Amino acid sequence: MSDLTRSPAWQALSDHQRQISQRSMRSMFEQDANRFQRFSLKFEGLLFDYSKNLINEETVQLLLDLAKQAKLSDWIESQFSGEKINVSEKRAALHTALRSPSTGEVNVDGKNIIPEVHRVLRHMRRYVEAIRSGERLGHTGKRLQHIINIGIGGSSLGPKMVCEALKPYANSDLTTHFVSNVDAADIAEVLKKLNPETSLFVVSSKTFTTQETLTNAATARAWLVEKLGEQAVSSHFAAVSTNLAATSKFGINPDNVFEFWDWVGGRYSLWSAIGLPIALYIGMDNFEQLLAGAHSMDEHFRQTPFEKNIPVVLGLLGIWYGNFFGTGSYAILPYDQSLQYFPAYLQQLEMESNGKRIDRAGQLVDYDTHFTVWGEPGTNGQHSFYQLIHQGTRIVPVDFIVPLRTHYPLGEHHSMLLANCFAQSEALMLGKTEAEARHELSEQGLNEQELAALLPYKIFPGNRPSSTFLLDKLDPFTLGNLIALYEQKIFVQSVVWNINAFDQWGVEFGKQLANKLLPELTGAQAVSTHDGSTNQLIRCYLNKSI
Ligand code: F6P
Repeated sequence: MSDLTRSPAWQALSDHQRQISQRSMRSMFEQDANRFQRFSLKFEGLLFDYSKNLINEETVQLLLDLAKQAKLSDWIESQFSGEKINVSEKRAALHTALRSPSTGEVNVDGKNIIPEVHRVLRHMRRYVEAIRSGERLGHTGKRLQHIINIGIGGSSLGPKMVCEALKPYANSDLTTHFVSNVDAADIAEVLKKLNPETSLFVVSSKTFTTQETLTNAATARAWLVEKLGEQAVSSHFAAVSTNLAATSKFGINPDNVFEFWDWVGGRYSLWSAIGLPIALYIGMDNFEQLLAGAHSMDEHFRQTPFEKNIPVVLGLLGIWYGNFFGTGSYAILPYDQSLQYFPAYLQQLEMESNGKRIDRAGQLVDYDTHFTVWGEPGTNGQHSFYQLIHQGTRIVPVDFIVPLRTHYPLGEHHSMLLANCFAQSEALMLGKTEAEARHELSEQGLNEQELAALLPYKIFPGNRPSSTFLLDKLDPFTLGNLIALYEQKIFVQSVVWNINAFDQWGVEFGKQLANKLLPELTGAQAVSTHDGSTNQLIRCYLNKSI
């Protein structure tokens, strides 16, 4: 057993789980009229209702003991102060610095990086305002209205999610497109829709070596040159990277190159110039509101006692279910169509951060770290996978996210949306007993035989946990709160699990093999000695026959 699973806090939680798994939330609510007040927290425009969880005050205390045992406070300070906590890459993890006010001070290698951060923000503002005002035009003198981000992973998922979420704050004459996949279908379908004269390509890549991004950028460049000539590249391409030599080699006008730094992880980078498409779309003032929201959550995380600290409580709840109830996944179910890309964004943020088997000491862990994240916006999910969530054989903890106010006040739509969201969390908690199901069926006039046959299927186990985030309104500041909340909750979990949330060696091996396979698939190299399956698959491709 590892130090963690042998530790007093872990053992105490393990014992406690056996007790509390015999309790029902239904009875906990019946016995405590103040359960909601006891297990909910408010911060800025966000209410976190975690009362529909399989917890009592002892649970929370034992989880907090686990956090203290992991020296979470020290780790929080290490993160914010720029210590190189990304040990395998010998880097700091300072996405928090990207949203710090200009008066802040954070030192990396003895240099305060905040002035650099704000220099780039000023450069972004100048560029964004010139494009949005029409001061800077395309090669043929037309306004640049269609922003095409070419990037993948953290260089796409964050900006794409935020642009969709904050569409109500965008100029209606602007559109955004996100090309990421090396499958030509992705870029081909976008180029079909574009007028080259009004298109601005933003090539986003921390390393500027990612095969998919460079391939798509070259295709876009060739398309533009074919339409408007080589001279057009200068006004129709911008780049965001840490690798300025590579952006220059690609031929992007240095005035349109926006840098960021190696102490920003890709999946944590939307707050940097990787957020340029966001700023172009919603304007720099709104982008800075997004940053401000994230900063305010950082301050909450850094300064609030753990029992009132939303990222800490949320992170510990995930550990409670994952490590002590054996849940293999959790669902993120935003009841807000504007957050439709939030689950996909969180998939990288969570699973690329914490999907690891080796701890900080280089040892194999003997406990689960991280769980599969999945989800779709409500109410769509109700017509897709809620059968499993309500009556499946495994508990799937749920995070519901729903705005009180809508940007789309049409008829009764919003009331119906919230009715469904609240009903689902109530149904998951309450369940439906055999007696209740029997009564319902007998009311429907079923005879005893029919009723007996149908009864087992109409019973709901209930006692299925969920948390609800009620947002006052999905605006830039509150979205910044929400995203930073999840970033820090992931950090909390990584600290308890004693893993490094900021490297991603697991994504390298597949890329290495792909680079070896490519010349065999293009016929430039004989099919070498792979396994029987891979060799045969290559041959099928070469022969274009299955
Ligand atoms: O998935 C691996 C990864 O390195 C991510 O961490 C990153 O967000 C993505 O690829 C894109 O990398 P880059 O921004 O360097 O193109």
